[in-house]
Amino acid sequence: MMKNYLSRVDKRIFKVIRDIGRAADRQGLRAYIVGGIVRDIILGRKNLDIDIVTEGPAIPFAQSVAKATGAKVTVYPQFGTATLHWPFGLRLDLVAARQESYPHPGALPQVRPGTLKDDLFRRDFTINAMAVCLNHDRWGQLVDEFGGLQDAREKKIRVLHERSFSDDPTRILRSVRFEQRLRFHIEPWTLGLLKQALRPAGSSRGEPLGLRPKAPPPRGTYGCGEEEKAFDNVKPPRYFTEFKKMLAEEQPQRHLTRLKALGALRIVDAALKTDFRLLKRIQQRLSQAPEDIACNRWIISLMAITETMSGVKLRSFLRKFPFRKEESESILQAARSEHVLRRLSAPELSRSQAYGILKPFHQDTVAYLRLRASPKKVVQRVDQYFRHDAGTRTDIDGEDLKRLGVSPGKKIGTILQKVLFMKIDGRVKNRKQQLAAAAALAAK
Ligand code: CTP
Repeated sequence: MMKNYLSRVDKRIFKVIRDIGRAADRQGLRAYIVGGIVRDIILGRKNLDIDIVTEGPAIPFAQSVAKATGAKVTVYPQFGTATLHWPFGLRLDLVAARQESYPHPGALPQVRPGTLKDDLFRRDFTINAMAVCLNHDRWGQLVDEFGGLQDAREKKIRVLHERSFSDDPTRILRSVRFEQRLRFHIEPWTLGLLKQALRPAGSSRGEPLGLRPKAPPPRGTYGCGEEEKAFDNVKPPRYFTEFKKMLAEEQPQRHLTRLKALGALRIVDAALKTDFRLLKRIQQRLSQAPEDIACNRWIISLMAITETMSGVKLRSFLRKFPFRKEESESILQAARSEHVLRRLSAPELSRSQAYGILKPFHQDTVAYLRLRASPKKVVQRVDQYFRHDAGTRTDIDGEDLKRLGVSPGKKIGTILQKVLFMKIDGRVKNRKQQLAAAAALAAK
């Protein structure tokens, strides 16, 4: 009997995809879940990120599913895609099956309507190139054109055709990410192609190792020899997206160590440090940290590998990628960790002094300092700030000071800050005590 791949999915997802299958039957089109979700169902891993491919237009179909199920729909007519949201937090992307071709290596692909097989063929690795049908007559049936199931069983990362990495060099990062996350291995033929894609322009290209998987012939439109330029044709933001995903993984140091061994770290940035001991230490602490140390995982990892970069290199790194202002500020702040932690380890340091040191830093930087800190006393000081003092406010304001006769201006701010520090140190408690302290400071 044919195995049903949908019998083990999460209950709420099951109901949603069954409704989608029914809607597809009513509209007379085929609908499939594809890509990462299928891989994770096979591997028994949790995944709430669902991609649906339709054979037939996706937007009107998504609208009819929304109507039938009460989901919220957002459509993107310029891409022919739609997203459905369910109130319990599930998000689902729908797209019509497409084929892609790359006008030149590393370019963004040109897209045309295609069959499901075309759509699977345009994907990165065999384990990510499977689909499961949602229509009633083939409910739960796996579509595995390129041997993804066997590769999943044998723990192999394998591209579908020999131009995969030159078409899209960001897949170099992806291959390592899936390899390390799943504890798979990049199989020899794929590894040969990966190394070829990394070779500098002009160097000779050896024959790829190993056997090619059974797959349709490559349909790229570019000519022989152009592959060598692929790597430079990719705009930094595309690497950045993949690099951030890598940094957000558990134990990113394993991913980076592998990238380094492959000589592939330089596709992100040649100036990146290759010593990941600090990153490893930070990750160990992160895995044991209390839950309320909320932070962006990727940025914490990045701080750990950029902390020791020279100022010039770090600034050029930050200019190269599309960081938000607050992100690059945080990363620059983290580069001063050593100095800040030294100040925080002074033998006598009041809570308000620790507050004064930490206040200028963004939340992610403080989280990083917390993970970076030792000895225990310093950790406690950062914790104290993180949990309590950062959010402390005075119970009096500028208007109160004006009523006390302080003339508007800088002095008001100075007095309020002193009262705040007194409150943090427990020297004034309620509003009455704070007014008295403010009056005494104003009289000085
Ligand atoms: N994909 C691809 N080539 C890329 C990026 C994505 O072929 N450069 C395809 C793969 O089939 C992948 C799917 O698009 O499974 C979705 O991509 P993404 O969301 O980045 O990856 P997931 O496989 O969902 O992985 P993750 O679990 O990290 O979200």
